[in-house]
Amino acid sequence: MNIQLQFVSHLTQFKSPPALPGDKSISHRSLLFGALAEGKTEIFNLLMSGDIQSTWNCLEKLGIQITRKGNCVTVLGRGLRGLHAPTSYLDCGNSGTSFRLLMGILAGTPFETTLIGDSSLSQRPMRRVTLPLTQMGAKIHLNQGEFAPVTLHGSQPLHAISYELPVASAQLKSALLLAGLYADGTTHLSGKIKSRDHSERLLPHFGVHIDRSDTFLSISGGQTLHSSSVQVPSDLSSAAFWIGATLIVPHSVLELENISLNPTRTGILNVLHRMGATIQTEVTTPLPEPKGRLRVEYSQLKATDIEPDEIPSLIDELPLMAVLATFAHGTTRIRGAEELRTKETDRIAAIAKNLRAMGAQLETFPDGLSILGPQPLTGAQLESFGDHRIAMAFAIAALRARGPTEILDAECVDISYPGFFNHFFKN
Ligand code: S3P
Repeated sequence: MNIQLQFVSHLTQFKSPPALPGDKSISHRSLLFGALAEGKTEIFNLLMSGDIQSTWNCLEKLGIQITRKGNCVTVLGRGLRGLHAPTSYLDCGNSGTSFRLLMGILAGTPFETTLIGDSSLSQRPMRRVTLPLTQMGAKIHLNQGEFAPVTLHGSQPLHAISYELPVASAQLKSALLLAGLYADGTTHLSGKIKSRDHSERLLPHFGVHIDRSDTFLSISGGQTLHSSSVQVPSDLSSAAFWIGATLIVPHSVLELENISLNPTRTGILNVLHRMGATIQTEVTTPLPEPKGRLRVEYSQLKATDIEPDEIPSLIDELPLMAVLATFAHGTTRIRGAEELRTKETDRIAAIAKNLRAMGAQLETFPDGLSILGPQPLTGAQLESFGDHRIAMAFAIAALRARGPTEILDAECVDISYPGFFNHFFKN
């Protein structure tokens, strides 16, 4: 499906969406932890999207019953040791979170499993997870030593390790916390542990004890997960596109409720504040996941440096930030973001190709980008590269581009935000 976005450049105001989908990271974890818990877990406002469907399907193949009634999804958990051997491979589709978190769980189960993914996922690095899992005693085979398909041979007891995370990845951290539940002893994680902390917040919500400080995490094996009820907040990473639209279309105001305001995810709000954006937030519910209200107004933006230590807190918003940098006065630099090259596509290359196709000039580095603004954008035919966040970021760029923009293979937005274009075209 290719989407033409030609009329929108005449917009005089961008309207707030009626409701936003549930947070993707919290949705994955709610399903997975619910499956490992004993008894019935109810999840409200679960994101219904391609990636979450992948986790859902894999869990069903592992013998977990999941049902949906209205806004409530019920998972009948079977306990840490209750998963069944699947009769065929588990297909994680496009979802890195499904793949990496499931590796953490399946490394400690007594049966063999093979995980596969689509062509994008099959090019993403997996050894970062299997290396420490192997140190814990897991027997794992990867395609070319790095990629999907990955076979976890099971039946080996896992042992706790102390591991220094070499990359700030919540998927890696979460996989090791989950494997730690299956290990003898206490697993200690240090190093680059500053990334989204949904697992550290939600596992305790299911009764798991985790010791945590700014520099380490520890989890003891053999703990029981107790079933729970989870209210999934709306996804700030999905809201980000409407925040971007509001900031660049004059007279726009965005007001959202029930939005995730987890401080490990709000890097985009901090950076936009620095850029002069009018943004107000109010946390109305602090636990287990902070959520609340957000108000944004159209603003004149000025450039900023996005520093390496900020990157994990806005990693998924960087394609949008690159688009917004073309509207900001001065040079915006994004550095320390080499992880962007290992996402659903090489996002640094995709951003550069699309911005250049729209007439913008920019410099790229192995770990980031530098963009001098403001620069006028011209409508163009753009590739999504099958990457949902590239498609949505450039739909927002099209709002202020001169002339029509066409985005190829735009249906990839269904990975995280199936209703995205419905709202887009209501404007
Ligand atoms: C996610 C972690 C991030 C993020 C992804 C979701 C998660 O990936 O980019 O969209 O739910 O844990 P990394 O852990 O690879 O940084």
